[in-house]
Amino acid sequence: MTADGKITTREFTPVDFTSREDKMHLLRQRALADAVLVGHSTLTKDNVRLGLPKGELREERIARGQTPSPLRVIVSNEGRIDAGLKIFGSDIAPIVIFSTTRMPRSFQKLLREKATLHLTEAPAVDLAWMLQQLRRDYQVQTVACEGGAALFRSMLELDLIDQLNLTIAPYLFGGAKAPTLTGLSTEFLPASIRCSLTDMRTVGDECILTYRVQRRRRPRAKGSEKPETVTPAAG
Ligand SMILES: NC(=O)c1ccc[n+]([C@@H]2O[C@H](COP(=O)([O-])OP(=O)(O)OC[C@H]3O[C@@H](n4cnc5c(N)ncnc54)[C@H](OP(=O)(O)O)[C@@H]3O)[C@@H](O)[C@H]2O)c1
Repeated sequence: MTADGKITTREFTPVDFTSREDKMHLLRQRALADAVLVGHSTLTKDNVRLGLPKGELREERIARGQTPSPLRVIVSNEGRIDAGLKIFGSDIAPIVIFSTTRMPRSFQKLLREKATLHLTEAPAVDLAWMLQQLRRDYQVQTVACEGGAALFRSMLELDLIDQLNLTIAPYLFGGAKAPTLTGLSTEFLPASIRCSLTDMRTVGDECILTYRVQRRRRPRAKGSEKPETVTPAAG
């Protein structure tokens, strides 16, 4: 994010305002996870593939007993996901989509050729349930949530975030209509969330921070343990 807390411009355009080192940091964090998670808007706006470059990061994963690249997970309530997006043209890792039965049948038909669909009859995807399915069906222990803001905020509100990776870039955007890390909402979070800083390093004019997010630790039903979720390098 910028020094004034913005993650993109008011047009929500893909913006490139962080360094090569920050991009490497993002890839390193992604490479640690069993799955990488993204909201439909970020997928569409940034047209990301969510892969890893060939070489060291993939080899380290294999040495750790992981697949060469993390499972790619998309979340959308409406389900109108364009099957022509770049992610569907890359076969680096399987793609799983969590959506609802509101997804039009024409979209379901095209997307089933490229991804596994999990469609709930509920009006919206239950994110905690989604994490449980990822653990149960795909043996996912660690999820790297790469945003955007709406998805991150929902995960925070549900107490599903353990770690925040945040890079502060040396820019100021201003503008009430440009989203912050938790979106455009003028509402407070239901309760303040305390974070403890576990790492900080500066690279050039950027500050790369790692926070442990203090969980509210509601008691969970037996057998409903969820995988750990981190947000890599919101830059
Ligand atoms: N600076 C950075 O590091 C960074 C990182 C990531 C993203 N971004 C930027 O953030 C912008 C997109 O963020 P965004 O906040 O507009 O959208 P987002 O969080 O990427 O996606 C939101 C969409 O995800 C789906 N969704 C399903 N369940 C949800 C839930 N429980 N909570 C929230 N979303 C849910 C919905 O899709 P449907 O509408 O299909 O139902 C919703 O509209 C882009 O401009 C992108 O470039 C910046």
